[in-house]
Amino acid sequence: MTNQVPSSQNNLINRYLEVLKKSLLNELYIENEAKIIQVISSVVNNEVLDLKCLFDTNLNNELIEVLTRIKQDGDFLTIHKTNPDKSLTPVPELRNLTELSHTMIGRKRLDNLQCCMEEILRNNIPGDFIETGVWRGGTTIFMRGFLASYDVKDRFVWVADSFMGVPPSSHEEDKDIDLSASVLPVLAVSLEKVKELFSRYDLLDSQVKFLKGWFKDTLHTAPISQLSLLRLDGDLYESTMDALNALYDKVSSGGFIIIDDYGSVSSCKVAINTFRKERKIEDELIPVDKHCVFWVKS
Ligand SMILES: C[S@@+](CC[C@H](N)C(=O)[O-])C[C@H]1O[C@@H](n2cnc3c(N)ncnc32)[C@H](O)[C@@H]1O
Repeated sequence: MTNQVPSSQNNLINRYLEVLKKSLLNELYIENEAKIIQVISSVVNNEVLDLKCLFDTNLNNELIEVLTRIKQDGDFLTIHKTNPDKSLTPVPELRNLTELSHTMIGRKRLDNLQCCMEEILRNNIPGDFIETGVWRGGTTIFMRGFLASYDVKDRFVWVADSFMGVPPSSHEEDKDIDLSASVLPVLAVSLEKVKELFSRYDLLDSQVKFLKGWFKDTLHTAPISQLSLLRLDGDLYESTMDALNALYDKVSSGGFIIIDDYGSVSSCKVAINTFRKERKIEDELIPVDKHCVFWVKS
């Protein structure tokens, strides 16, 4: 399948993909996200809410600017509780209420994903797309939307997750991190919820395949024959290594390996560096933003 579409159609494809990204990142209704943050922040700090901030969006301009920046880099905003001595305590579990996007990877990484998928079509690199670690599924929804927009019918999108959050750390390299559902319930999103979100975008169909369970149990035996894009977003050393060990050899030459957490989770970086050393991989690691890197398999 080549990327040979008439330019007018290409324009429509780009417009669709742009609206899809804006929607997945909740850029379209960003002022509502700012209002919700204001309300929750007032409740947490027992402050009387000035209702004007709900009607006069100009009052939230500063917060909207911060949110816009955060959505570029796929960062998140933590609400803080002000203590009597004026010190601040973060309230991480409120991410559930304030992070309203359908993907947390941010604009730069979604744009990078689009470029990689375009390269794959342009160069006829064979194989499906997979993300290991999908949260609400937004990145995989974008993959399916991309295939639909180019009318590609011979590639699957694989959606791999426990659908119950990150496992408790069990590997030595992960011993200092606990991202499991008891600490970060925001990361546990059920399979039903992810399917429902695919449906909202009219993108739930037989070209989407779900792999439910821990990566160590699901990925080795998954009926995937070939991949052109392997996107790793499982945060931990263990999750990154399990995915690479099971899937790297299925990536076609010219295919892409994208690592979401290379710059943000040190044990993920260790996993990547260890795997590349063991397998003598010298393909250049290319940065996407301060968190994410990718390489093209030679
Ligand atoms: C940071 S979130 C992924 C964000 C997502 N890529 C997006 O577009 O917003 C990490 C996800 O990895 C999953 N996960 C991490 N380690 C896992 C493992 N070993 N097995 C299965 N799922 C895992 C968690 O359930 C969670 O949904």
